[in-house]
Amino acid sequence: QTIFLRDYEAPHHWVRDVALTFRLAPRTTRVISRITFVPNELNRGDLVLNGEELQLIAATVDGAIVNMEVDDTHLRIASADLPQKPFVFEAEVEISPETNTALEGLYMSNGMYCTQCEAEGFRKITYYPDRPDVMGVFTVRVESDLPVLLSNGNPVERGDGFAVWHDPWPKPAYLFALVAGELVNHPGRFTTASGRDVELNIWVRPGDEDKCAFGMEALRKSMKWDEDTYGREYDLDIFNIVAVDDFNMGAMENKGLNIFNSSCVLASKETSTDANFERIEGIIAHEYFHNWTGNRITCRDWFQLCLKEGLTVYRDQMFSGDMRSHAVKRIEEVLALRARQFREDNGPLAHPVRPESFVEINNFYTATVYEKGAEIIGMLRRLIGDEAYRKGCDLYFERHDGEAVTIEDWLKAFEDATGRDLSQFARWYSQAGTPRLKVSESFAEGRLTLTFAQSTPPTPGQPDKAPQVLPIAVGLIGPNGDEVVETRVLEMTEATQSFTFDGLGARPVASILRDFSAPVILEREMDAATRAFLLAHDTDPFQKWEMGRMLAKDTLVALILEDTPPARDYLDAIRAVLTDDSLDPAFRALVLGLPGEDDLAQTLFDAGVTPDPQKIHDARETLRGSLARHLSDALPTVFRQMETGAFVPDADGSGKRALRLSVLSLLTLLDAGKEAKALFSKADNMTEQAGALAALLAAGLGEEELAAFGQMWRHDRLVMDKWFALQVALAAPARAADVARDLSHHPDFTMKNPNRFRAVFGALPGNHAGFHHAGGAAYALLADQIIALDALNPQTAARMTGAFETWRRYDADRQAMIRAALERIRAKTGLSRDVTEMVTRILGD
Ligand code: ARG
Ligand code: ZN
Repeated sequence: QTIFLRDYEAPHHWVRDVALTFRLAPRTTRVISRITFVPNELNRGDLVLNGEELQLIAATVDGAIVNMEVDDTHLRIASADLPQKPFVFEAEVEISPETNTALEGLYMSNGMYCTQCEAEGFRKITYYPDRPDVMGVFTVRVESDLPVLLSNGNPVERGDGFAVWHDPWPKPAYLFALVAGELVNHPGRFTTASGRDVELNIWVRPGDEDKCAFGMEALRKSMKWDEDTYGREYDLDIFNIVAVDDFNMGAMENKGLNIFNSSCVLASKETSTDANFERIEGIIAHEYFHNWTGNRITCRDWFQLCLKEGLTVYRDQMFSGDMRSHAVKRIEEVLALRARQFREDNGPLAHPVRPESFVEINNFYTATVYEKGAEIIGMLRRLIGDEAYRKGCDLYFERHDGEAVTIEDWLKAFEDATGRDLSQFARWYSQAGTPRLKVSESFAEGRLTLTFAQSTPPTPGQPDKAPQVLPIAVGLIGPNGDEVVETRVLEMTEATQSFTFDGLGARPVASILRDFSAPVILEREMDAATRAFLLAHDTDPFQKWEMGRMLAKDTLVALILEDTPPARDYLDAIRAVLTDDSLDPAFRALVLGLPGEDDLAQTLFDAGVTPDPQKIHDARETLRGSLARHLSDALPTVFRQMETGAFVPDADGSGKRALRLSVLSLLTLLDAGKEAKALFSKADNMTEQAGALAALLAAGLGEEELAAFGQMWRHDRLVMDKWFALQVALAAPARAADVARDLSHHPDFTMKNPNRFRAVFGALPGNHAGFHHAGGAAYALLADQIIALDALNPQTAARMTGAFETWRRYDADRQAMIRAALERIRAKTGLSRDVTEMVTRILGD
């Protein structure tokens, strides 16, 4: 059953307040609710409550039994049977957290009770209007003998076997949370700008206390940053974070009680890599920032998901840039955007940032809603300027605090704050697909003319596309390498449009789309010499990196298609960057990184060539070998230079380690793994330990080290996820499916833990040549696993089907095998709505 944005209708009843009592028991939890409903004068009708997998014990209206209709998904009371004024609905239901393997609603993880209600999980807890535009004030009583009992808001009362919490801020049900368990806390404090003293806690299982300090610091920095940057203060006396091992996503912004996948909060140098630290800092910030962008101002309906997610991702990106390096962060963002969002936008799952219909909303927590949603905020800011951006945000917060709103409301705040018409800009929310931007240049009499043409290819359901508003940041570099025109933002609104730069002496080289100022594919004719020139001289770090990237891509494509060996100029350009001590090591590491195999497959496909995964893999290995040999004298030197002292997970330390490990990965191709083995055995941190192991595995070495790693960390779930994932990700193509299959029979493998499942079966499609290896063993294996997982956890199963979204790129044999795998999944009786929707969209029928 498809739900459409255009069918939105206000609810028949609003909620004023909610009192819930939970009598916790693994299979027989009782939930007693007392809800004050207020009829909606503007839309009178039946009382419609959602409810799934609930056993109804009793229900009354103002204390009396009334007629009601109850089925698998709803409880309905006819308008005629209801008071036409505020009334109290009371109900008692029974639920079974222990058998809840979908990890949605109230469930158990390692003996601990926890919840995940976004998007539509609250309906598995009790009968309720489970929609974000219905907001209520919650009071929650938790009854259990477990020592720690938590819910949203402020603590009111604590007694023997119970605790009461009250959240004064009206909220939609998706922000409800409850946690109960044997937990220990890492405490902290924060005083807000206006002087509110806030108690902070990170709650973990005993044994994990020593992995909380970094997260706590990230939380305090986030709280300060939101005050300084957006003028947003925290609004309760307490802020709790809980780490949970079994969790479908990264984390959840429940009011005053954020719940995290333990992989996104627990950190120590022994067990977490630099990338883990960076991600943890970003996710803590993200969930905290939701307190204003999501919680105080929420979404009217789930089509508006990007209202809170795009904006909050943008905010966490800026925070991370401020904490670390904007240049490095921006390149990492673009890498992720291209790898995930462009891939989605250019295939059968393409959808607008604000979708117009869905079957299962959980299938729309996508790179498009999140990452492209964030790009839209960045473009808006670039177009109107920093000051106007802040003014618009202030107006939005002031105008809509306490409301459930839409993208139109968001844009209107900026129109009113700036006097600008944003109607064309709004297309970014409704039009799917990645725009292609072609540019041509001419130069005469000191005038450079740049002529741009934009077009967006058709996407499912959207054959015709209109021109978008594109902010194109451009700078000019003179022939001697100096910047002659600083960054200027060209505002393109037409299908084709020219811009001129006057008063130039000699012909400059244009640096176009600086800082990746719009999420488009830039098509520009450019020879290798010009690319190398910009790689050497551009002042914009993103474009500088981009030039190295394009050189690498051209080199790889020539290797794949014509067996052309890498040009000396390219190798020299890379050497120049590698050995340039004036450049940030993190940046040098990014330039040294080669385009991934999936990226190359898409590039070939776009050029009209059917990609051959094995050939792509071999070419990339060949180039790695050429680089290693060409840089052989520099590699050991840089490897030593980048040695860090005591481990500090900051930008400086992680940048050095990133460069050191990129170098090591090449060095390992020359020294039979000597340096990597040495580093593996003496590393005192996970970044270098796992990095050394990865370098060995990528070179077809490291059997012993892999075993030692597994032995050493067998008691640490999060580190063992790395052990599982590395072997699959770095298996030789012909062996990948076998490795994944064998690991699925390992005693420590379990489908019930999403992190572990993803470690194996998320890593498998990540091994491009392995996943697409001739014969299709990996396709069939993944299909089997999706079918099996679907019976336990539809949400995570549906997410895994995305691995097949690129199937149309490949040859007829592979397409037929993937089609068969998808058809087989779809034919499974009892298949969830989640997976059915995904498979149907991917097949495109
Ligand atoms: N709102 C959460 C976040 O962005 C994501 C939760 C999504 N959960 C889900 N089941 N769809 O941090
Ligand atoms: Zn979010």
